[in-house]
Amino acid sequence: MTISESALQVRLRAITHEAQSILSFELVPLDRNESLPAFSAGAHIDIQLSSGLSRSYSLLNDPQESHRYCIGVNKDLKSRGGSKQMHEKLRPGDILTVSHPKNLFPMNESASFNVFIAGGIGITPLLSMMARSKALGIPWRLHYATRTRAHAGFLDVIASYEGQNGVEIHLNFDQEPGGQMLNLNELIAKMPTGAHVYACGPVPLLEAYEKATAALPPESVHREYFSSIDVPANEGGYSVSLARRHQTIQIIPGQTLLEGLIAAGVEPPYSCQQGVCGTCEVKVLEGIPDHRDLVLTDSEKAANDRMMVCCSGSRSASLVLDL
Ligand code: FES
Repeated sequence: MTISESALQVRLRAITHEAQSILSFELVPLDRNESLPAFSAGAHIDIQLSSGLSRSYSLLNDPQESHRYCIGVNKDLKSRGGSKQMHEKLRPGDILTVSHPKNLFPMNESASFNVFIAGGIGITPLLSMMARSKALGIPWRLHYATRTRAHAGFLDVIASYEGQNGVEIHLNFDQEPGGQMLNLNELIAKMPTGAHVYACGPVPLLEAYEKATAALPPESVHREYFSSIDVPANEGGYSVSLARRHQTIQIIPGQTLLEGLIAAGVEPPYSCQQGVCGTCEVKVLEGIPDHRDLVLTDSEKAANDRMMVCCSGSRSASLVLDL
């Protein structure tokens, strides 16, 4: 992984238990008199871990804050190592290398109303959007679903908005007595006209959300995935010309494009390797990618002028990349 182009060093100031399997991490500048680069609601940073892994985490604090970045990390039992390391290896005082903030889940700041739908740790980018909505005077409604109350992080932050004008909070604990799954069709049908809706959470929630919002204007529907829903393209059998290097490589069956590039000594920046963080985006100069990511919109994919090389492959016999 590489995040060197935009690397920052920060100090881990505090680790806080937020809920069952969820910790939050507060990162501050090495020199407390300095400010961190600004971020917008919905942004994330990539964190370089000592094992060489890099992982992306949403910033959950108020974007008006410049003295810290706060992230929440769920210890995922299916973790490929990132969340386990974050939970088990990091200690307050550690110095970490992180990327500058990037935003693939931006908030429309001229909306008349926002609806936020969070599943589990998917609450994190929406917390920064709640703070930003408050600063902009945009009324909002939150639907926050977790298995039980004990699994729900950041309830104290959410409770601090309780009773404020223009704020509606709905908590949903589906495995508690009498609990049930969020009824997405119903809550989408109840959205005020002209509202924007934002969802973040596990894949099944987001797949149901995509269906429930299919009839809404696409510009008002926003979502961010944490993990892939597609398998990476590793069928191989195509060639890739690297325009800047004047080099052509073959991607063989069983190999992803990123693996082929690394084997050839070319290492573009990458992080999640699941097509969800956008770090590995490369310009396509010729050819038709087989898009497997969750970063590009359908129209961006149709343009075929860029691709995520960690998971996407090629539909044409060859690709020419701006590498
Ligand atoms: S590395 Fe995250 S999208 Fe490719």
